[in-house]
Amino acid sequence: MMRLDKYLCDAKVGTRSQVKGILKKGNVLVNGEVIKKPEWKVEEGTDCVVCEGKKLTYQKYVYWMLYKPAGVVSATEDKREQTVIELLPQEERKKGIFPVGRLDKDTEGLLLLTNDGELGHRLLSPKKHVDKKYYAKVQGVVTQAHVEQFLEGLDIGEKKLTLPAKLEVIVSKEISEVWVTLQEGKFHQVKRMFEAVGCKVLYLKRVAMGALVLDAKLKAGECRELTLAEQKLLFIREEQR
Ligand code: URA
Repeated sequence: MMRLDKYLCDAKVGTRSQVKGILKKGNVLVNGEVIKKPEWKVEEGTDCVVCEGKKLTYQKYVYWMLYKPAGVVSATEDKREQTVIELLPQEERKKGIFPVGRLDKDTEGLLLLTNDGELGHRLLSPKKHVDKKYYAKVQGVVTQAHVEQFLEGLDIGEKKLTLPAKLEVIVSKEISEVWVTLQEGKFHQVKRMFEAVGCKVLYLKRVAMGALVLDAKLKAGECRELTLAEQKLLFIREEQR
C-alpha cells in the first residue's frame, strides 16, 4: 500500500504540488470513486487509478542507464565520495535503486541502475555469462599473442584462470587501444588481466552489458530511463512492469 500522491508522482503525473492540485480538482478516480485526499492508500498493481481520464499502470521497477563518469563510486551510500545514486534525478533516489555490478572509481561508462533485485542477480551471475564490453587504452604494445592469452584464460591470482575473454586490438603501439569482452566481473578484472601480461590500463570505459549498449547521446554523468525495447533486451518480464 502507498499514498495516492506518491503513486501519482511515481507515475510521473507531475510534481508533488501539481499532484495535490489535480487531486483537489477531483480529477483522480480510484476504483471508480473520486478521491481528493493525497494520503489515501492505494494498492499498487491492484487498484485502478485513473488520472485526468487516463488509466495509470504502476511501474514497480525502474531501470536507468547511467554514463558513469570517473571520480564517482558505484555504491548506494558513501560517507566521503559522490555515489552513482546521486547522479539520478532527485525523485528517483529513494526507490531502493542500486547499481548492477560495480565499475571502479576511475572507470567510466555504462552502468545499469535498478530496484529489480532479480534482474540484478540474473545479470551478475557468472553462470549467466552476460558479456561486458570495455574500451581500454593500455600502456604497452598489445599484440596477437595477447589476444590468444586472453582467450586461453589468465592467472590473475584467483583459484582458477579467468574465463575466455575476447580481446580486439584497435591500435597496437606504445599506448594501445583495445576492446575487451568479459563474461565475468572479478574485482579490477580488466586491469588485472592486462597486468598479468605486463601491460597497464590507463583508461577504461564500459560500452555494453549483454545486449544493452551505452547511448552515444549521453554525456559522462548523464542518465536516462531504459526504453521498453531495451528492457526487453534484458529479458524483463512483462508482468513485472
Ligand atoms: N575491470 C576493471 O578493472 N575495472 C572496472 O571498473 C571494470 C572492469
